[in-house]
Amino acid sequence: MTEAVLLVGGQGTRLRPLTMETPKPMLPVAGVPVTEHQIARAREAGVTRIILGTSYRAEVFEEYFGDGARFGVELVYVTEEEPLGTGGAIRNVADYLQSGPDDPVLIFNGDVLSGVDLRGLVNRHTSDDCAVTLYLTRVEDPRPYGLVPTNAQGWVTGFLEKPTSPEEIVTDQINAGAYVFRRSVIDQIPPGRVVSVEREIFPALVADGARVAGHVDNGYWLDLGTPMDFVRGSCDLVLGVAPSPALPGPIGESLVLAGARVGEGAVISHGSVVAAGAVVEPGAVVAGSVIMANAFIAAGAKVYGSVIADGAHISSGASLHGVVVGPRAVVGALNELREGARVWPDTRLADLSVRFSSDR
Ligand code: GTP
Repeated sequence: MTEAVLLVGGQGTRLRPLTMETPKPMLPVAGVPVTEHQIARAREAGVTRIILGTSYRAEVFEEYFGDGARFGVELVYVTEEEPLGTGGAIRNVADYLQSGPDDPVLIFNGDVLSGVDLRGLVNRHTSDDCAVTLYLTRVEDPRPYGLVPTNAQGWVTGFLEKPTSPEEIVTDQINAGAYVFRRSVIDQIPPGRVVSVEREIFPALVADGARVAGHVDNGYWLDLGTPMDFVRGSCDLVLGVAPSPALPGPIGESLVLAGARVGEGAVISHGSVVAAGAVVEPGAVVAGSVIMANAFIAAGAKVYGSVIADGAHISSGASLHGVVVGPRAVVGALNELREGARVWPDTRLADLSVRFSSDR
């Protein structure tokens, strides 16, 4: 079938502090890196060779995935010394592609979970002899995304990045972050400089009258770019709402990985995952959350809709709603943290039990 390119070089600024040490595509959702879910889906659709376009923390990918044999695909790594943007990254891997000039090449953003029918996407591309075919999805609020209107025949008529005024919201179809490129179109992207496919390449192709198709797929789709979407994506995988052949356990209310310890009477629910080496003590509540490796949730702590990164410690009686706690941070007893709070790596929030007892 087709060769694929995975773009995994972004800084993932919206997911800080989680991305300060780990690139976004390597963060675990439902127990394995986002990239592993993507590789498994591509492989299932018949892809046998994948090129990873890396930049930020490039070494982390090869350390985990090696030559790809363990994952049933051949993996090739191409690293940009300076990040070249989405288009520049695609052009940068051109010399490593084995496809012929008219062959289809699949391109994936490295932070999307989706149930798109990949074979259907490639079939549309080849049967309509397209230069580029974009996977589009429909969303209720398209404002944070790139809008892609199409005509009645499904040809793309324009690109609007992140609309700001109501007049600019001309469609609910958005760029879902996967494309099929005719290989020769990749070779035409200007080499050696920063290029955005969304802002430069796609609008130029449409303006030149190239055959750019929009393939709307109404299956599962989620961009994992923000902390709350990241948590949601992990829970959707655990609950079986998002499809993945790489889930490291059966779908269900929760996923407790081998090597995790969950005390009796602890409640783990709403799609939560507890990774290897993590401890959830008796009487703790973990709902709709991601507990990463070696994290510790003490008895009586409550964690809702939150990410607790590697080695972080949530003390007794602490209550967290919609929060990101960075690696090795300590949230002292009785702290209450609410939506949007982010605790930086290695930070310590004081134990409040002493203060509360002296108030009495
Ligand atoms: P934010 O900083 O939070 O916006 O995240 P991001 O850096 O990942 O940017 P964005 O979500 O727009 O990127 C979409 C996809 O393209 C992600 O999978 C990124 O890893 C990837 N990407 C973005 N810029 C580059 C780049 O310069 N080089 C490479 N190789 N990949 C990139």
